[in-house]
Amino acid sequence: MIYNFNELTSTIDEARDPKYRHGDVVVAEHQTAGRGQRGRRWSSAAGENLTFSVVLDTSFLRTEEQFPVLQSVALALVDLFSGYGLEARVKWPNDIYIGDRKIVGVLIDHSHGAGGMLRRSGAGIGINVNQRVFDEWLPNPTSMSLETGRGFDRREVLERFIGCLTERFEALKVTHARETLRRDYHKLLYRLDTPALFSLPDGERFTGTIRGTGPGGELIIETAGGTKTFLFHEVSFVI
Ligand code: BTN
Repeated sequence: MIYNFNELTSTIDEARDPKYRHGDVVVAEHQTAGRGQRGRRWSSAAGENLTFSVVLDTSFLRTEEQFPVLQSVALALVDLFSGYGLEARVKWPNDIYIGDRKIVGVLIDHSHGAGGMLRRSGAGIGINVNQRVFDEWLPNPTSMSLETGRGFDRREVLERFIGCLTERFEALKVTHARETLRRDYHKLLYRLDTPALFSLPDGERFTGTIRGTGPGGELIIETAGGTKTFLFHEVSFVI
């Protein structure tokens, strides 16, 4: 079921309420404290975009299986855009890019059950839909409207996304389908097999080539000094 709110601090907080069940979607027209990755805030013009969280029952997954959840969400977003004729890529780990511009941010909040299992996950998603002018501090935003030159019915976009996510999420329950998920995520990685500039948390920059991701979601980059793996937050792209 879709729950619409005019204003929330963040859909992530609301979706943690146990009254929401698997498949429920919490949507806010405006978030007063929208959260982004790395402690940043998520900026989105009220009433122009989609800011929502989808509640997922992940109790069949072990805690170390968080990355496949993220893969299913990222691929569902790529599928969504493909349905609108937009070719999207996954900028590791979970941004969605069109060309060199960010169109979606994803922040997934997991809660843990007993015996090393996940319990449920809230996939917090911000899709830039109809916004055409963005805050100056945002480095490289884009939107569906900027990419196509037309406006979109946000409810329709959301419903199409839920369809895409249902399909990709089901794949987590079937071994061979999960392998397809892994392969698709790999193929759709932004800057895969292309030399690119990266930076480390201390500001040091280096050139490397993304060769894929490991089972836990770590990024594999080939550098002049050999192949290295990086966990979330250990490396950034220089766009
Ligand atoms: C990022 O920094 O790229 C992640 C952004 C995630 C934004 C979405 S909007 C809906 C949900 N609620 C939040 O507060 N954040 C996520």
